[in-house]
Amino acid sequence: MISKQVLKALNEQTHAEFYSFYLYLAVSSYFTDLHLDGFALWMEVQAQEELAHALKLFHHVQERGGRPHLAAIAEPTSEWGSPAEAVQAVLEHERHITGRINALANLASEEKDHATSVLLHWYVSEQVEEEATADRLYHQVAMVQESPQGLLMLDRELAGRGGSTAEV
Ligand code: FEO
Repeated sequence: MISKQVLKALNEQTHAEFYSFYLYLAVSSYFTDLHLDGFALWMEVQAQEELAHALKLFHHVQERGGRPHLAAIAEPTSEWGSPAEAVQAVLEHERHITGRINALANLASEEKDHATSVLLHWYVSEQVEEEATADRLYHQVAMVQESPQGLLMLDRELAGRGGSTAEV
């Protein structure tokens, strides 16, 4: 049986992952408007990953005899000053999520909830990868932001990779 504190924290993290899904979709839509379809696809693939993250937690709660609580999802920002700013928003969000996952892992440890701890090991590793890919993409887009040609080349590169994997 899952403790009340862990249940509450897992439900809050499920909510945070659903918000991540929304945020990536908003960023994807921003890039579609700019006709940067490779960026848009990359962000949409990331959004799908976030949905999977949310559902993994949702099912874990159910399997442990808890009941998921589905809170309202806030409207994400939908406009940014530049492609670099949009990617930076994603990077900062991933850093925020890493902090949340670490706090959740600490709580699971304190509560001796080994099943949740094992599940969270996956999220800890996933965050290392997600922060690294977002960081790399941010630096790449910042490098070419004054060059339409560079931006288009990066966009084409992302279009090739976005369909099968969200890695840059
Ligand atoms: Fe589910 Fe990108 O953190």
